Amino acid sequence: MTKPGNKMWGGRFAAGPDAVMEAINASIDFDRKLYTQDIAGSKAHARMLARQGIISASDAEAIVHGLDTIASEIESGRFAFSAALEDIHMNVEARLAELIGPAAGRLHTARSRNDQVAVDFRLWVKQTAIRFDALLLALIAAFLDKAEAHAGTVMPGFTHLQTAQPVTFGHHCLAYVEMFARDRGRLADAVRRMDECPLGAAALAGTGFAIDRHFTARELGFREPTRNSLDSVSDRDFAMEFLSAAAICATHLSRLAEEIVVWSTPQFGFIRLSDRFSTGSSIMPQKRNPDAAELVRAKTGRVNGALITLLTVMKGLPLSYSKDMQEDKEAVFDAAENVELAILAMTGMVADMEVRADAMAAAAGAGYSTATDLADWLVRETGMAFRQAHHVTGRAVALAEQKGCGLAELTLAELQAIDPAIDGRALAVLSVEQSVASRTSFGGTAPDNVRAQIAWWRARRDEPTGSGGV
Ligand code: ARG
Repeated sequence: MTKPGNKMWGGRFAAGPDAVMEAINASIDFDRKLYTQDIAGSKAHARMLARQGIISASDAEAIVHGLDTIASEIESGRFAFSAALEDIHMNVEARLAELIGPAAGRLHTARSRNDQVAVDFRLWVKQTAIRFDALLLALIAAFLDKAEAHAGTVMPGFTHLQTAQPVTFGHHCLAYVEMFARDRGRLADAVRRMDECPLGAAALAGTGFAIDRHFTARELGFREPTRNSLDSVSDRDFAMEFLSAAAICATHLSRLAEEIVVWSTPQFGFIRLSDRFSTGSSIMPQKRNPDAAELVRAKTGRVNGALITLLTVMKGLPLSYSKDMQEDKEAVFDAAENVELAILAMTGMVADMEVRADAMAAAAGAGYSTATDLADWLVRETGMAFRQAHHVTGRAVALAEQKGCGLAELTLAELQAIDPAIDGRALAVLSVEQSVASRTSFGGTAPDNVRAQIAWWRARRDEPTGSGGV
């Protein structure tokens, strides 16, 4: 079915688009999300046109005023969005014409929807990345508080999810602080690169009007204008970088989610999630399910999917703009919305979680977790080669296993029967507390190290670049 007339291109087109054409072409259902940025971009552009004498001051004033009216109409839900007008840009411009008359037609001087959408989307992604920084900072703060409360709380450290060596829960929390700080660093790095304004590149080649791109860049809070008009309208690196950082962050959140799921099982019993972040079962009254953690774990899928979507949309596109690029937005919006929810949910879960220090301590000593400490003692105190010490300790583990007891429960006589070099001092290193306290190497798990690291992070909370700097 062909629609009568053509609302937008009446000069060149006699007939309106087929209904299917309209359906595939319209982006207003999702790009209406950009209305704030679109209106800000148009206001800056109108002011610049007037300053440069390209339009009159009174037209610019009418345009700016009309745009403000449109913003409040949209905010209060009074704005009638139309698919026939394709996208947010044409919807706003058409309404502006209704509100202020012919002056509205001057707004699009020296501009195209290509640079318009590029600036709108860049602003949105930049603002979102900056908001994420604050969200991650709150998550990091929750972890620092937990780390401080549990700097000396022992738990098993794992490799291969097998008990490896005792660590402190504070140290485990700080591992996540490192990850989320690197996520902040990646976002900050991306923001620095995307902080250039494409407005004024016009359709693709720049314009013959004497525009001032430095002015519009400044007005919109960008560091400077972009330097190449072709690249300006065809670059979506800023969105790809944002999604890369978001996907890595979602991966971190998912790993944390998995640990929370495991820790909160009755079998582990390391933590108890608060009622606020647990759900019940409709049939099994005893259950407390970690649904929020499971959903955070799952959301990684759609965030990774968004990154692949955009990379695939962009691959093979010739310079400069192609309509393919309209498919850049939904993936970014969806990923952003879900990563934001995931960070918020994790912050709540971490802040609220009850740490079961007894269960952690009991598990920390199980599985012969201090075997390495005995081997290290033999090396340090008797001068034995590490390989041989490993062998001797292995025999002690085998004996304990055979007796069904822990390493610390073996008697001195039993240990000396394995190797006479062992003396009474070796018994002390078999305790979990002694084990973690001894791990004072830089970055190690000793409670004093953990406290020093917490102080280090607290002193740097305003540096967005993460531990290594950029
Ligand atoms: N809705 C379009 C997009 O999101 C705006 C740019 C349209 N430009 C064009 N030449 N048709 O990409």
